[in-house]
Amino acid sequence: MAIRKVGVVGCGLMGSGIAQVSAAAGFATVVREVSPAIVEKGIAGIEKNLARLVEKGTITAGAQAETRGRLRGTTALEDLKDCDLIVEAIIEQLPAKRELFTALDALCPPSTIFASNTSSLTITEISAATKRPQRFVGLHFFNPVPVMKLVEVVRTIATDADVYEEMVVFGTRLGKTAVRAHDSTGFIVNRLLVPYLLDAIRALEEGVGSIEDIDNSMKLGCGHPMGPLTLLDFVGLDTTYYISQIMFEEFHEKRFASPPLLKRMVLAGWNGRKAGRGFYDYADAAKPKAMKF
Ligand code: CAA
Ligand code: NAD
Repeated sequence: MAIRKVGVVGCGLMGSGIAQVSAAAGFATVVREVSPAIVEKGIAGIEKNLARLVEKGTITAGAQAETRGRLRGTTALEDLKDCDLIVEAIIEQLPAKRELFTALDALCPPSTIFASNTSSLTITEISAATKRPQRFVGLHFFNPVPVMKLVEVVRTIATDADVYEEMVVFGTRLGKTAVRAHDSTGFIVNRLLVPYLLDAIRALEEGVGSIEDIDNSMKLGCGHPMGPLTLLDFVGLDTTYYISQIMFEEFHEKRFASPPLLKRMVLAGWNGRKAGRGFYDYADAAKPKAMKF
């Protein structure tokens, strides 16, 4: 395999997890953020995760030190110029992603493979901002990345077959089960998951049940690890709002439309767990309290 050095752009919920599993799998990994404070926060989260894995005996202190040693944070895009693969995990907005990849395309040699962790944009429309659509794939990871076992590896009609197979191997090297998906909006998981999550908000809006009762119903009645409103807070309401708008624009089906409550919560900055407030209040993170609307 030709991948030695991996660049990750974005060190939020997803980028930090992708950087962690990449470094843990033995790849020299550079993660880029927009400010030193966000780099520090993201790296501190990774260090905390690694320390917990040592505490639990999942990894040795030696493996922890080696993983940390392979990981570097930066705010300079130029630090990614000698990467063999760059995985983007920034905000779910097409102009931001296209602008980033145009800059990376000018910076990196033609051999560098580009991947996006987008949840809902088509890989084709992002890759069209570069001169290398044949070396462009989707690598869609799941939150929390160190725990969730899946990666969707997405090919467009332009993706080179060898590049695609190399990315399937890369996903497997990270310890994930790699599923193959075509470049259809939402790929496999979000095509099915997003309407369910949005329906849970509609059920709340219509007074079908309380926040706790909707969540408990799906946990206890269907064996889900988290209820849908807890999961929405976990994913991020801002991210879900962008995903919903993108999927609605693609399919023009009501099941993908943003419920009014979601829009209002995002406008209020109640973006879920990462913002301290969403459907639940996380002032006491160990005991989230359902919000009253
Ligand atoms: N980072 C790293 N590890 C984490 C973590 C995090 N953020 N959160 C939890 N973990 C680890 C814990 O350390 C624990 O590890 P051990 O079993 O080795 O001790 C393990 O995960 C279980 O954690 P907890 O016991 O604290 O809690 P839990 O049993 O409720 O599990 C969970 C937490 C794994 C997140 C589980 O609730 C779950 O699977 N939830 C559903 C997550 C999900 O559906 N994700 C997909 C979202 S959709 C998406 O990602 C796609 C998109 O485009 C929007
Ligand atoms: P997030 O808000 O937690 O993190 C995004 C980060 O990107 C922020 O820290 C921001 O400062 C940074 N950023 C923005 N522009 C940047 C740039 N030009 N260079 C470097 N960093 C930049 O969001 P997230 O939840 O990590 O989502 C990131 C991507 O992953 C989105 O495309 C989202 O759809 C996708 N995704 C999210 C989830 C989820 O559950 N949250 C799951 C799978 C995929």
